[in-house]
Amino acid sequence: PERILSGMQPTGNLHLGNYLGALVNWVKLQDRGAECFYCAVDMHAITMPHDPAELPGAVRSVAAAYMAGGVDPERSSIFAQSAVPAHAELAWILQCVARLGWMERMTQFKDKSGSDRERASVGIFTYPVLMAADILVYKATHVPVGQDQKQHLELARDIAARFMRDYDCEGFWPLPEPIIEGAGTRIMSLKDGNKKMSKSDPSDLARINLTDDADTIARKVKKAKTDPEPLPETVEGLEGRPEAGNLVGIYAALAGSNKEAVIAEFGGQGFGAFKPALAELAVAKLAPVVDEYNRLMGDPAEIDRILEAGAERAREVAAPVLADAKRMVGFWG
Ligand code: TYM
Repeated sequence: PERILSGMQPTGNLHLGNYLGALVNWVKLQDRGAECFYCAVDMHAITMPHDPAELPGAVRSVAAAYMAGGVDPERSSIFAQSAVPAHAELAWILQCVARLGWMERMTQFKDKSGSDRERASVGIFTYPVLMAADILVYKATHVPVGQDQKQHLELARDIAARFMRDYDCEGFWPLPEPIIEGAGTRIMSLKDGNKKMSKSDPSDLARINLTDDADTIARKVKKAKTDPEPLPETVEGLEGRPEAGNLVGIYAALAGSNKEAVIAEFGGQGFGAFKPALAELAVAKLAPVVDEYNRLMGDPAEIDRILEAGAERAREVAAPVLADAKRMVGFWG
């Protein structure tokens, strides 16, 4: 049977990239009957400077966004990572399995730590090991994420394999398979087709937030950067046109189709025709999600109950896996 684990950082609002790259696939997996664990990774969030007073609210907000996007708390466990201490305990064990050389190859660490490496937290460096623990503590078989997490998932597989070899327990963990699927696995900034859409972009016009109202969504689409050419007649014609490629990809992901189908419909047309169609589709797909998010956020006590119930289930599943791992490495007790 499939068991799914994935998570998002509770830092700022979720955006279209999180939604199309990950959340849409989370819901698909849930709906095909997999056992799903979806956490708000607040332990990852403290690797960067943050405001402690805002973190619990950000966890609630992420939980509400999961549900607004279609995660059903009756079928999937939604919880805060920090509410399940097994993640941290397994992470320590795995830190002693991962090799420095592997960690040094992680490109996200290089991006996030920036030029001032001396001052980056050690947590930013070991971040992918905690991520491996998130996955392995549930013996997850599949991990739905966007393209930017691919390298971290390869590391998680390497860590699992190395643990099983070192401690002679072949088969203890299934090697977790990444699920990086659909037209939205790498959504780019609306202002620069070569930059990933991200929460940290200083320009709010660069992203569509899952909290934007219909007018804002439509306005951002219409203001998105483009080039002067009409859309090409073939998908190959999108090469070297990052902004056009991104908008076509967003349309395809929102429609649940692919770039070929979008080009078949809009090839040869200018952005004057394509952008209004995209804005309309974006509003039709996202406005209900935003409305539901706002409705859920109106009852924080209910979200907290859901997070507590999710954490309870998660702790039950994680406990025996952690206990086995501790025994395998020879811990006392
Ligand atoms: P985070 O919080 O940066 O992003 C959450 C999810 O959204 C995807 N994503 C995107 N997909 C397409 N286009 C984009 N522009 C875009 N931006 C973000 C990410 O790939 C991710 O799937 N380290 C992870 C969180 C994490 C995790 C885990 C994920 C912690 N533990 C265990 C899976 C399994 C992160 O920072 O994601």
